Amino acid sequence: MKITKICCIGAGYVGGPTMAVIAQKCPQIQVTVVDLNEERITAWNDENVDNIPIYEPGLSEIVAEARGRNLFFSTNVEKAIDEAQIIFISVNTPTKTYGKGKGMAADLKYIELCARQIARVAKDNKIVVEKSTLPVRTAEAIKSILDNTGNGVQFQILSNPEFLAEGTAVQDLLNPDRILIGGDSSDEGQKAIQALVAVYSNWVAADKILTTNVWSSELSKLTANAFLAQRISSINAMSELCEKTGADVNEVAKAIGMDSRIGSKFLKASVGFGGSCFQKDILNLVYIAKSYGLNEVADYWEQVIIMNDHQKRRFSNNIVQTLYNTVADKKIAFLGWAFKKDTNDTRESAAIYVADDLINEHAKIAVYDPKVSHKKIIADLNYLETRAASNNATSVSSFDTPYEACQNAHAIAVLTEWDEFINYDWQKIYDSMQKPAFIFDGRNLLNASELKAIGFVYQAIGS
Ligand code: NAD
Ligand code: UDX
Repeated sequence: MKITKICCIGAGYVGGPTMAVIAQKCPQIQVTVVDLNEERITAWNDENVDNIPIYEPGLSEIVAEARGRNLFFSTNVEKAIDEAQIIFISVNTPTKTYGKGKGMAADLKYIELCARQIARVAKDNKIVVEKSTLPVRTAEAIKSILDNTGNGVQFQILSNPEFLAEGTAVQDLLNPDRILIGGDSSDEGQKAIQALVAVYSNWVAADKILTTNVWSSELSKLTANAFLAQRISSINAMSELCEKTGADVNEVAKAIGMDSRIGSKFLKASVGFGGSCFQKDILNLVYIAKSYGLNEVADYWEQVIIMNDHQKRRFSNNIVQTLYNTVADKKIAFLGWAFKKDTNDTRESAAIYVADDLINEHAKIAVYDPKVSHKKIIADLNYLETRAASNNATSVSSFDTPYEACQNAHAIAVLTEWDEFINYDWQKIYDSMQKPAFIFDGRNLLNASELKAIGFVYQAIGS
């Protein structure tokens, strides 16, 4: 089957960048990204490409090149489904906040709505691609909905999980380590796999395109995220031991990372991992394991989350303790609110939880983040429902420059590893702060000896 029209349901952090790259690399294919969120679609269509809703290095250039040529953003979901031969489902799959599996299982209501809508609208055969991260065996549910509520047309379901990391999404999409496509072993299933392989072959080498059965593909995504997050919790666990023993976690990470069996990536100790994926996907994995009665498997992976929560709490406790056991009415400057550098995404950012702890201690938080708005910061805190929104509003302020955020502060907490933080005029910041001036570097980012020479009391993670 020659693919000429693709539709993607969900114009978020995955759907937007992924489809922009497909459109750039496949000018012969018309790619339409649809979403129910009108504000998001309007922003994707903003004349000024700098105003697209997702910040990713290199993304606005690709959107500028392809948008209006073969890349379209629209709220007309039905039209896009009707016209497309391949439909990607890239909607959100958050942790359930109600009912059975609350706080653990993935909420599949958006996925089911998509499946029902596709079934209702489709008048000819379609390939439906799970791009969202889903529990293993979700394809079965989607197939059942499509086959039972459709118009008698044939659907093939493929699993094609996305491995991009935010902040490097464009590079990850252009040069993926692998593309994973899971499909049915039937002739029709294999044809569908080949149709999707042909799309990716426009820019990805054949040996990097891996095809498997659907269940392996679905489970590989959860497994990859669990392994990645497990490395961070492992090094963070060692960071606490380093602090007690005089070892330096950066040196330990380097020493073990040179073992080619361990490898050097993803061994950076931090205030704790954030982002929309790791916690959600591990909780989902734990839930699935429990539902099969595999309690030891569930407990093993749950420990990754327990360690991460501990690391965040440990960071805020240490700030309070070091500031003479009280932060009440003290200004604490936060450098960074995003969950990692080079993104405006704040979902599950460690900064939110550290701020929440410190506000409980009546601290005044002053935030500077190069890409995150005050509105977003307040919304993140309100979402926790720890206290009245009015209390969050009076406890947190945001500033356009780091110098204003740090002025008169008792302490600075580095929550995100933005490159620009390294080269600030640290003498100027020191001069404007209360003394002693403390820095709690949750990213081991700054130059410790330079800061100590200025007069800062500098504390890193794991040393
Ligand atoms: P997101 O929240 O940024 O985007 C999802 C979009 O889907 C939203 O804009 C929402 O309005 C839209 N949507 C929901 N239901 C819809 C419907 N019925 N019709 C039309 N639009 C609908 O989420 P995201 O970060 O892009 O993640 C999407 C999926 O990809 C998740 O399953 C996630 O686990 C997975 N994933 C995310 C990342 C990442 O880095 N963010 C990486 C790999 C995989
Ligand atoms: C992750 C996976 O990497 C990606 O493959 C998947 O598709 C989506 O989930 P993402 O969450 O966007 O990507 O970013 P990632 O680079 O994995 O970082 C996640 C969190 O871990 C961030 O808060 C980051 O700061 C933290 N981290 C990462 C560390 O604390 N130490 C490290 O060594 C690496």
